Amino acid sequence: MKPSGNVKQETSKEFDFTARDFERVRALIYQKAGIALAESKQEMVYSRLARRLRATGISSFAAYLDGLEAGRDADEWEAFTNALTTNLTSFFREAHHFPILAEHLKSRTGQLDLWCSASSTGEEPYSMAMTACEVFNTLTPPVRIVATDIDTNVLNTAANGVYTADRLDKMSPERARRFFQRGKGEQEGMVRVRQELRQLVTFKKLNLLAADWALKGPFDAIFCRNVMIYFDKPTQGKILTRFAPLMKPDGLLFAGHSENFLYVSDAFRLRGKTVYELDTEPGEKGRSALRHA
Ligand SMILES: C[S@@+](CC[C@H](N)C(=O)[O-])C[C@H]1O[C@@H](n2cnc3c(N)ncnc32)[C@H](O)[C@@H]1O
Repeated sequence: MKPSGNVKQETSKEFDFTARDFERVRALIYQKAGIALAESKQEMVYSRLARRLRATGISSFAAYLDGLEAGRDADEWEAFTNALTTNLTSFFREAHHFPILAEHLKSRTGQLDLWCSASSTGEEPYSMAMTACEVFNTLTPPVRIVATDIDTNVLNTAANGVYTADRLDKMSPERARRFFQRGKGEQEGMVRVRQELRQLVTFKKLNLLAADWALKGPFDAIFCRNVMIYFDKPTQGKILTRFAPLMKPDGLLFAGHSENFLYVSDAFRLRGKTVYELDTEPGEKGRSALRHA
């Protein structure tokens, strides 16, 4: 007989995880963070949330989800969200963006403000900061970076700026020396982002779905890379519409390699490979899209 409704045979699992449990998780994380989990993510959800069940001592998914919904423990919402985010990142990921950012910074004057809107463990905003230091040839460039994420665990790692040394494997030795300190003794095998670089970046929790972002702007550039892929098109459109008034008129918006913002919002037009600018002449939009297709 088939174990109806169960995602996997109960016998092989520590906790019973039914199709209904999975649907509840999907609905909750969508409401909370905008993350649209695909059907194929059942195993991932099981293993990540099973850790929360163990940590809280709750013996079933149904009871755990009942507790969340009843709001019995506000902190558990945070842990639930943290468990379900995917935080893959690296220094100078999608490297072609950084020379474009460098040229953009060079062309501007005065205090420059950048926003990294899904900063994960910090590699992306620190790469933006390194780029700014190289442009102005100083560890104290006239640049402020606000780096935000919904996940409080990754934000703590990011603010600390401590990584295993292998995270720098693909970085030039010159960059690694200039911007990182090597750990000694107990810290052997670890590196830390230099204090001057850390001071350029302010980390804070921000849910891109929240009604109030509590960010002033306007920004010279916004990085929004590899996070929209988790959202459905209406959510992407709403977020992009809210980016527009936060940008300086000639600011740039950087997207991830598999993200296309042209068909979800009228606010931006393509300026180069996955780099967007505000669309001041909506009639031009279609032509611009065709040129870059
Ligand atoms: C795959 S990482 C991308 C990190 C970095 N931007 C990059 O491209 O390397 C996606 C990040 O988006 C964050 N995220 C997911 N949903 C979010 C939301 N609703 N608001 C803010 N950040 C969110 C996750 O916590 C995660 O750190």
